[in-house]
Amino acid sequence: MKNNDKTNIVLIGFMGCGKTIVGKKLAKNCNLSFLDTDKMIMKSEKLSINKIFKKFGEDYFRKVERDICFLVSSMKNTVISTGGGIVKDKKNIDNLKKNGFIIYLNSDIKRIYDNLKYDNKRPLLKNKDKLYEIKELFSQRECLYKEYADLVFNIEDYSYSIIAKNIKNTLDKEFRNR
Ligand code: S3P
Repeated sequence: MKNNDKTNIVLIGFMGCGKTIVGKKLAKNCNLSFLDTDKMIMKSEKLSINKIFKKFGEDYFRKVERDICFLVSSMKNTVISTGGGIVKDKKNIDNLKKNGFIIYLNSDIKRIYDNLKYDNKRPLLKNKDKLYEIKELFSQRECLYKEYADLVFNIEDYSYSIIAKNIKNTLDKEFRNR
């Protein structure tokens, strides 16, 4: 990573694809710090994501998310795991790209649904037909994830440890060749 100006690795992707868990493992493997934008939002608001949505609405959440994104974009040597909706505002991506290499963790709907079917921490998946909601949102977001990514990793049936290792190996090669 040292030969390149960009010292952050930014993970984007749909809810429940494993950004946080992969991000933590990747940070450990690469000897980098780790940050999770949702965690930072909760810390700054002193509320859960559910409560922020309920009390102030999605627009307010997106504003805080934008501010946090701006803040973390100036950091260095950090793996940044982002919320699935970060791609809704291109400014977020422009900021994150200034110092970060963007990686899309591409998961299929089935794995996402399996990971989220009993989850109650995602305010955008609150209706009875969770699979339908996931499909709807995924179809709106997929092209954005792909458009903004510098690299795409297909999650398939791999374990999170393997994914983190694969990302590190690919990035090592990528930066060695520059
Ligand atoms: C959201 C994803 C969530 C969280 C919020 C909104 C989204 O993060 O930021 O519930 O719009 O996709 P995860 O991707 O970590 O679940």
